[in-house]
Amino acid sequence: MTAPAVLDTAALTRHLVERGLISSPLDVEVHGLAGGVSNDVVVVRAPGFDAVVKRALSRLRVTEEWLADPARLGTEGRALRLAGRLAPGVVPAVIDLAGGYLVIERAPRTWRTWKQDLLAATVDVAVAERLGRVLGRWQRATAGDGDVAGAFGDVTAFGQLRVDPFHRTVAGRHPDLADPIHQTIEIMAANRTCLVHGDYTPKNVLVGSAATDLWVIDWEVAHVGDPTFDPAWTVGHLLLKSVHRPAAAPAYAAAARAFLTGLDAERPGAAALDPAQLIRQTGCLLLARVDGRSPADYLTAVGRGQVRSLGRGLLLDPPPTLTDAWERLT
Ligand SMILES: Nc1ncnc2c1ncn2[C@@H]1O[C@H](COP(=O)(O)OP(=O)(O)O)[C@@H](O)[C@H]1O
Ligand SMILES: [Mg+2]
Repeated sequence: MTAPAVLDTAALTRHLVERGLISSPLDVEVHGLAGGVSNDVVVVRAPGFDAVVKRALSRLRVTEEWLADPARLGTEGRALRLAGRLAPGVVPAVIDLAGGYLVIERAPRTWRTWKQDLLAATVDVAVAERLGRVLGRWQRATAGDGDVAGAFGDVTAFGQLRVDPFHRTVAGRHPDLADPIHQTIEIMAANRTCLVHGDYTPKNVLVGSAATDLWVIDWEVAHVGDPTFDPAWTVGHLLLKSVHRPAAAPAYAAAARAFLTGLDAERPGAAALDPAQLIRQTGCLLLARVDGRSPADYLTAVGRGQVRSLGRGLLLDPPPTLTDAWERLT
């Protein structure tokens, strides 16, 4: 999917020439990529060059006012490098990071986001399992690592882009949920044990046709934090898709189970995953997608009501395990 480029293409072209990535400003094509709300994301093609370039926006493209520090682009570049070292081939390679531009390897043209597959009710449990496994590998490899904690200790962008617009906004709109939501935030702040992607959702997963074709992209809010955050986001999105396409709910549930099985299989050695916090985080995510600052674009009014009551239930009356949430969908 491409759209007209929004960023200053002349400045971008000059930058790429100065960095020695392209030899001439002639024959350069720039196309905007659909999907981003917090960055300009473009494909740049020139003779011998075909890559994706990101530039962070200070004001996000959502209806409500939402600002964030563009320095997060540097975090994304460093996190991609770390993630690629720990799990080769599961993230795009970083080609260059300088001058406010991040240049990364472009996925093959035939790849799509996993969100596209899920919305079409094409649910490949192998993708889910792989996504769980690779997350488990990142969690285990970074657990208790002082260097990683130092390099990814800043939670400013995570606060601006996740905790404020999601958890705190939802707590403001559901005063009766303030206690469990603030408990979630406090436990999250006290449990900073491993690398957290921060937006581990189907729209940030690119897949191709081979079983191993999978990239996790969009690491701008990566930080050392709570290991329940990423799995809650993935499973929460599978619950949202189940409300959106009830006929495929059993398939989404199977994907959630495969994801969590893959995660558990790779995690030994990392700190235990707190099941109660995982459920609370998922409740917060569900509510954020209906009453937070960037609501899901595909839910109907009825669907929003279902998501709201499911999210409230996860916080007020948690089930024994997260995947039991599927039994509450009617
Ligand atoms: N390396 C890449 N190769 C191909 N497409 C990409 C790549 N990186 C991003 N995209 C496309 O651009 C979209 C937005 O990129 P993303 O990094 O998620 O930015 P944002 O932070 O704005 O969401 C993605 O959903 C995907 O469709
Ligand atoms: Mg994204």
